[in-house]
Amino acid sequence: MTQFTPRVFSGIKPSGGLTLGNYLGAIKRFVDMQGTDFETMYCVVDLHAITVWQDPAELRDATREVAAGFLASGIDPEKSTLFNQSQVPAHAELGWLFSCVARVGWMNRMTQFKDKAGSGAEKVSLGLYAYPALMAADILLYHATHVPVGEDQKQHVELTRDIANKFNHDFKVDFFPETNPVIEGPATRVMNLRDGTKKMSKSGESDMERINMTDTADLIAKKFKKAKTDPEPLPETLDGLSTRPEAKNLVDIYAGLSGQTSEQVIAEYAGAGWGRFKPALADLAVEKLAPISSEMARYMDDKAEIDRILARGAEKARAIADPILKQTKEIIGFVQ
Ligand code: AMP
Ligand code: TRP
Repeated sequence: MTQFTPRVFSGIKPSGGLTLGNYLGAIKRFVDMQGTDFETMYCVVDLHAITVWQDPAELRDATREVAAGFLASGIDPEKSTLFNQSQVPAHAELGWLFSCVARVGWMNRMTQFKDKAGSGAEKVSLGLYAYPALMAADILLYHATHVPVGEDQKQHVELTRDIANKFNHDFKVDFFPETNPVIEGPATRVMNLRDGTKKMSKSGESDMERINMTDTADLIAKKFKKAKTDPEPLPETLDGLSTRPEAKNLVDIYAGLSGQTSEQVIAEYAGAGWGRFKPALADLAVEKLAPISSEMARYMDDKAEIDRILARGAEKARAIADPILKQTKEIIGFVQ
């Protein structure tokens, strides 16, 4: 077996603003993995964003905002490679090669596609359907071994393993590594504040259902105050939350923000009513998010600096990606 360098890759789409779900499920954990045993690569996946319509000016803005969110949260461009996907052409090229490895039957099982396409599957872009093959390319282009993501991306990382296995098997090589999803912590699936059975997402009818990383302190407090709950106080143990999705979500968010486990939060707030817990949660969220959002605003005031950081990151990324793509093409049998 080939020994692969422990390398982390993950990405976030520049479509709409960043939410607390992105922060707790992804960005905060990207920061934690930085400077540990891994080489870390973080990407603003703009090629993925255009699988649904993006206004060009808004796409540029959102790309810089996601980059600003990474930087403000503590991604250090000296320690991590931070770039936007479209500046590294090898992503699109390997994405095509993997479209020829992945099977239609595999794609048809992707629940995110089914959710997003809904009943209008005939009208969505071909790119939305092929998206998981591009995601596999993002990861395998760097021979990444670990991919920190939220729970919703688990199936896509598993598909990445299937693509790597089939490629290795078809061409009788040991070229692409086995990728491990890293889905850890209390907030791998942050739910909608108005409906605890739905994921918190960037799109969605009402802004009240999500916390945006750029929300003001007042708005954060208001959103938590109005968050849907039930009349019961918090139970003594986590088991008592199993049938209370909204209550569980708020406890998990508290845990994610405070760096505790949900069990520890329950132990501290056992028997507390919402009148006590919600203001404590709002204060904690403001304490953690306000410095990040003001840093984001500072970066957004200097777009040239963001663009420089992304360009430098893309150059570092190309230096890893290009030789791997070249070897892939060699294995496939292209004359180069
Ligand atoms: P996206 O915004 O869809 O590009 O997602 C980027 C990353 O954030 C992925 O790793 C997602 O799994 C994660 N993420 C998005 N929404 C949530 C959420 N509500 N809870 C936890 N993680 C999330
Ligand atoms: N598909 C991911 C999402 O919607 C974003 C993404 C694209 C990604 N490429 C990736 C995540 C590679 C991890 C690794 O959230």
